[in-house]
Order: sequence, then structure tokens, then C-alpha cells
Amino acid sequence: MAKKHSEGYLSGKESRRISKENRKITSQLEKQHKRKNVPESEYLTQMHNPNNAVEFDNLHSYFFTDAGTVKAVDGVTFDVPIGKTVGVVGESGCGKSVTSLSLMQLLQRPQGQIVEGEIRLNLGDKAYDITKVPTERMQTLRGNYMSMIFQEPMTSLNPVFRIGAQVDEVIALHDKDGLSKEDIKARTIKLLEMVGIANSEGVYRMYPHELSGGMRQRVMIAMALACSPKIIIADEPTTALDVTIQAQILDLLRNLKDQINSSIMLITHDLGVIAEMADYVVVMYAGRVVEKGTAEEIFANPSHPYTIGLMASKPVVGKKVDKLYSIPGKVPNPINMPNYCYFKDRCEMCVEGCSGAYPREISLSPTHKVSCYRYYDRKAGE
Ligand SMILES: Nc1ncnc2c1ncn2[C@@H]1O[C@H](COP(=O)(O)OP(=O)(O)O)[C@@H](O)[C@H]1O
Ligand SMILES: [Mg+2]
Repeated sequence: MAKKHSEGYLSGKESRRISKENRKITSQLEKQHKRKNVPESEYLTQMHNPNNAVEFDNLHSYFFTDAGTVKAVDGVTFDVPIGKTVGVVGESGCGKSVTSLSLMQLLQRPQGQIVEGEIRLNLGDKAYDITKVPTERMQTLRGNYMSMIFQEPMTSLNPVFRIGAQVDEVIALHDKDGLSKEDIKARTIKLLEMVGIANSEGVYRMYPHELSGGMRQRVMIAMALACSPKIIIADEPTTALDVTIQAQILDLLRNLKDQINSSIMLITHDLGVIAEMADYVVVMYAGRVVEKGTAEEIFANPSHPYTIGLMASKPVVGKKVDKLYSIPGKVPNPINMPNYCYFKDRCEMCVEGCSGAYPREISLSPTHKVSCYRYYDRKAGE
């Protein structure tokens, strides 16, 4: 069967060749993950800054699909300081979820793999490189040191078990103190109260379908908090909720963070959410960080044309406009990224040099970094 080799189409033969190659790469990586009794020394590492809970360092996470390699995360570097909230923002498909799933080692395997870089997790007395931790050991890290709140609570709760039983199970699974059944129930009730569920005894006996979306998200947050993790990843935690409930859940997260002194990695496409919650902001585009800084820096002085575009496309109370700005064009195909700035084809602020290689990171301040040719004339930061 002859097929045209126009862009986006593969012949059967080509597709088979790709999938054979993929299998070779992924089965080798899987073997690494599945090893038993790996000595800890193989995945011990040093935090570059002991005040960070997590450090992503040049992370590359790819999906080896039959259509080609999807470079979903392609060299991402940023820190999550202890006790702070880091907002990760960018449009759909830019690699936000893949970044957080890499930290949890929950990429869809075998096709999804971390192929390069380090993720350093601070355990207090030592640090692990998550990219090297074997699957076996990972199970004790999830829940105890990090946990995740997903976008859609209904798909994360089991519809056939009561709320109480599901939260109990999480506590029992990570229990190190040998709690009795009653102790566990008491902890569950306390957790449900902590996340603002008034009728906690009643909710303990309810099924997920008996709760509203906001209540279910509160239960998910209770489960995430069950083992006082050092880092909580909230992946679009309010996207499925309506605005009033959204505000309540954000308030809840903010209050809880202060009570338990965890770090939060808050993933969202909503700049409004970031403005309310984040201490630091990381702006992602097409699998890369294009700009990062403190929340003040990013909101007062957005510097990458993409960040500027995001800001301009957000409605502002009290400002009348005929039409909201929208960034022209679309994201490049992640299987076939250009070898120049990924944003160039959509950029309305191009300067000389933009057709050169992908721009390096420029320091606008010790915390504010941007990858863009517009700032190449700055003296290397500081
Ligand atoms: N299981 C998968 N298989 C293949 N490609 C995937 C898979 N999961 C995500 N991707 C791709 O990775 C890129 C980043 O996705 P994601 O991190 O989910 O984006 P978002 O920023 O919206 O969370 C997208 O191009 C997406 O199509
Ligand atoms: Mg996502």
C-alpha cells in the first residue's frame, strides 16, 4: 500500500520501524526501573540548595509513540522552595502535567520515560534523584513525601466505596505507628474537618456520588494531606469547579499550606489562580520554561512575549476592551520541534537574532530569568 509521505503521515513500514526502535529503548529503561534491591547509594544525590523541597534540573520526559518521539518536556529547570507555592502556568499541552507526573514517576509507561536530567527530592536528612529511584522504592515515597490532587475528583474516587473507607485506606497504607481501626477513623474524621467538611461523621458514611464537586475535591485534598507530605502537587485543582467553589478551594489550600508547612506545586492555565496563590511563577511553552521569577516580578514585569500575551489575554476588572487579545497561531508539533525559538512563529515582537538557535536563559534579576533574544543585550544579569 503506497502512502504519500506528506507531513504528518507515515507509511506502515516506517511506523513499524519506529515502534521496533521504541521497544528497544523503552524495554531497556523499564528493566532499570524494575530492578529489585537496588542500593540506595545509586539514587542518593545532593540538593543544590537545602532550602528547596524539589529541584527540577534539565528534565527531559519523552513519549515514544508509533508516530514518533513526543518531546513533552524538553529541558525544564526550576526549584520549589520549602514552604512556598510555585505556580506552573502555560496553555494546554505545554507539558505541565508531564512535569509533575515525572516527579511522581507516574508517566504512562512504558512509552512515557524520563530520558535526561535530574529531579532532586529533599527528604530532610538526605536527597534522592527521582529519575533513578526504582519503582519498588517509589511506592513508599508517594504519599509520604509527595502527593497529588487531580483535576477531576470523580475519576479519582472509587464510586463503589464509602468516603470514610477510602480515606482510611490511605492512612492505613502509609501507617508507621500501628494505628488501630478506631484511631484511623478518628484521623479520617479530623482530616475531613480540617478540609472544611462540617458534617464529617455523615460524610464518612457517604458514597462519592452523594457529594457535590467541591466536596469531592475537599475529600481528595484530605487524602493528599493524610501523611503530611513535604510537597503537594495540585494539577488544575479547580478547573472542573464553578467559580465560587473555586475560590473556596483555593482559600482552603492556602490555609492548609501554612498549617502543615508543605510546598505546593500549583499547575494551572489560569493566571488569576496564580496571582492569588503563588510565591513563584514558572511559565512553560511547548515543553520548556520560557520565563520564571517571583510572582511580583512576573506580574509587574512580564518579559517573554508569550507571558506578555498571556497577561493581555486575561480579562481585567474595570477595564473595558472591545475584544480580548488572543495569541495568534498555534503551538508547534511536539514530534517535530523547530531548531529556533519555539515561540518565534507566533511572536509579534521578534528582533534580529530570533532566527538563530533556541535562545539561552538571560537573568533579569537573581530570581527573574527569561529565554528570549530581546534581552541578549543585557549584561549577563545580576
Ligand atoms: N500518554 C501520552 N502519550 C503520548 N503523548 C502524551 C501523553 N501524555 C501527554 N502527551 C503529550 O505531551 C504533551 C504535554 O502534555 P501535558 O503535560 O499533559 O500538557 P498540559 O500542560 O496541558 O498538562 C502534549 O503534547 C501531549 O499530547
Ligand atoms: Mg495537564
